[in-house]
Amino acid sequence: MLDRSPTGLEYRPPAPEPPQTRLGLIELIRTLARNPLECWSAEFFSEPIARIRLPFTDAVLVHDPAAIKRVLLDNSDNYRKDPIQRRILSSGLADGLLSVEAQRWEVQRRTLAPLFAKRTVGCFAGAMLTAARRLADKWSGLGQGAVVDVTSEMTVLTLNVLALTIFSDGIGGDFEEFRLAMNAYFAVIGRIGALDLFGVPEFVPRPGRARLRRTMAYFEAAIDDIIEARRQRLACAAGDAHPDDLLTLLLRALDPATEQPMSLAEVRSNILTFLSAGHETTANSLAWSMFLLSQSPDWRAQVRDEAERELKGPTAGLADRLVVTRAVVEEALRLYPPIAALSRMPEAPDRLGPAEIGAASLIVIAPYVLHRHKRLWDRPDVFDPSRFLPSARNAVPRFSYLPFGAGPRTCIGSSFALQEATIVLAVLTRRFDLDLLPGTRVWPLQRITLRPANAMPMRLHEQRKD
Ligand code: HEM
Repeated sequence: MLDRSPTGLEYRPPAPEPPQTRLGLIELIRTLARNPLECWSAEFFSEPIARIRLPFTDAVLVHDPAAIKRVLLDNSDNYRKDPIQRRILSSGLADGLLSVEAQRWEVQRRTLAPLFAKRTVGCFAGAMLTAARRLADKWSGLGQGAVVDVTSEMTVLTLNVLALTIFSDGIGGDFEEFRLAMNAYFAVIGRIGALDLFGVPEFVPRPGRARLRRTMAYFEAAIDDIIEARRQRLACAAGDAHPDDLLTLLLRALDPATEQPMSLAEVRSNILTFLSAGHETTANSLAWSMFLLSQSPDWRAQVRDEAERELKGPTAGLADRLVVTRAVVEEALRLYPPIAALSRMPEAPDRLGPAEIGAASLIVIAPYVLHRHKRLWDRPDVFDPSRFLPSARNAVPRFSYLPFGAGPRTCIGSSFALQEATIVLAVLTRRFDLDLLPGTRVWPLQRITLRPANAMPMRLHEQRKD
């Protein structure tokens, strides 16, 4: 096959070798608990549609772009988010956009759409630059040769960006305590239990739920205080004297059809939703991008040159000018999609290509499999950002590349996330060479998101002062 890599060298980043045959039931349960990514056997990377019989349900794995388009777009009313996802997302997120269904979802989506429109997101570029530069300065202060764990650094950074863009005047309490509680939240819900996967009824207790409730109670109280303080401020602020952030936009958002604002429960749930949906996903895409650049000196040099040139220009339109950096982020999202699998449950029987779909089947669309599918991608396991450079980007078929999903329930924060990851990667790569410590084992692990299994220690070599 044609070698399109600029150096002639191809880099295959770490990924599980798919087993040649399907796993038996016991092995499947064990592997799901350890790392669901390791369950995908070789046939799924070459078959458009496959079926698996599970004890309580029948799973249909759909990796044919036309069939995916039918599930997520053309016949999306028939394919609701399934109870597995709803169970995982229960608790504090229950009234937020990610979890609500049917008419409540329609009202929230149209009310929230303007908050994440490209123009609004463009206004947050300054906050993203500020957060990235603060981190670069902190790293610079550690001295040449210092070692940082890129995974946890990116997790703190993306939370800082959300804090700056949602509550530009601060979270009011102890930021570190807030961050630790959020990490605890992910640790509890991150493990997709076999009980959930096999459709065991809700009344069977799940370990960890009591802890989750306590963690969420802390968040809800902290966030209610912030909302109340802002409400009072908006009520007495004259004219436009208000913080220009997502919280103000949320409190002022009106459903365009009825002109109704959101309830307090919906505002609070959506803040929690933005924090949880936008935090670890974006952090992972940045950690993977930095890892991939650490293995690819040629692309790292290209990103640095571009950043050196473009960061001197205006903040407006910056992310659109960083085309090489963005291509690296998009390629990282292809190889390590933070949401590695989506699932849906049909309400009525349907047909997907040759496959009859029963109403009780579980539909699984795994971006991880789709993005490495042998029928859809040239050298699927090779890191090659040139697939996403402007000259090639339009040739990537819409339903072969789904890091943000597709159709009406596509990620509302995709422009926000891409802009953030692009700006942060450019700022940090311009300032530093980040080299993985020798002997570090980097491995993808699927919990709720697809993240590096271990810490990612990298040595900092500052290249330029700001
Ligand atoms: C690289 C970062 C991100 C990735 C890979 C990602 C991925 C996704 C995916 C795949 C979905 C669709 C799930 C499905 O169809 O079942 C989704 C939905 C969603 N995302 Fe993101 N996301 C990211 C960042 C963000 C950010 C920054 C925010 C907000 C600040 C956000 C908020 C949401 C919300 C609210 C939904 C639900 C939309 C709806 O159901 O109408 N995401 N995301």
